[in-house]
Amino acid sequence: MAGGGMERWCWAAVAGAALGLAVALEALPWALRRLRAGRRRRPRHEVLFFPSQVTCTEALLKEADAGCAAGPRVCGCSLPHGESALSRLLSVLLAARASLELCLFAFSSPQLGRAVQLLHRRGVRVRVVTDCDYMALKGSQIGLLRKAGIQVRHDQDLGYMHHKFAIVDRKVLITGSLNWTTQAIQNNRENVLILEDEDFVRIFLEEFEHIWEEFNPTKYTFFPQKKSSH
Ligand SMILES: *[C@@H]1O[C@H](CO)[C@@H](O)[C@H](O)[C@H]1NC(C)=O
Ligand SMILES: [Zn+2]
Repeated sequence: MAGGGMERWCWAAVAGAALGLAVALEALPWALRRLRAGRRRRPRHEVLFFPSQVTCTEALLKEADAGCAAGPRVCGCSLPHGESALSRLLSVLLAARASLELCLFAFSSPQLGRAVQLLHRRGVRVRVVTDCDYMALKGSQIGLLRKAGIQVRHDQDLGYMHHKFAIVDRKVLITGSLNWTTQAIQNNRENVLILEDEDFVRIFLEEFEHIWEEFNPTKYTFFPQKKSSH
């Protein structure tokens, strides 16, 4: 009969809806967990490859200087204004709020130098370790950093202080083969790892503190020390 068929159909529909609702309720906590996990930011693990495309970094630096997140990104220059390996590196540095340790063999990139000075002005505690043979080369940023009041220490050895790493806010390690020079940034094949990793940051910080103490100026010797007479 038509009436009975209709009734069966209705019951089937009700049962189906109830089942659907039950499944949905069952899945709700899982869905909420997924949503929450998605919102928690994953630690940064990134690699930058150089040479970097030459892009304009003016907007990035101006914006960081003004201290406003939504500064105008317009710039009249003829360079491309997209992302590049250098602009990514700058962004990671410019995110510093408390501290920046730099352990660099050669540092002459004006953009990176500007970023570091900007952080210093903003109150970030900046410490630089570098190599004595390269810090006075043409275009070196080291003198400018010192003039700006940033603490710089260097080796006194024949061996090179050949590290190229940085630590941002005791949280992010930046390390790789890259000299912080325009020559290397624009021409060399290099890699830079950006790691938000507690263990690696701790190990590199310990090494930094060790070098920092070893290069303490009170330990510099400006004249050959006299051999002890016995
Ligand atoms: C790194 O920088 C130093 C100092 O400017 C330079 O002598 C050396 O050749 C650079 N290394 C590379 C691979 O560019
Ligand atoms: Zn521009």
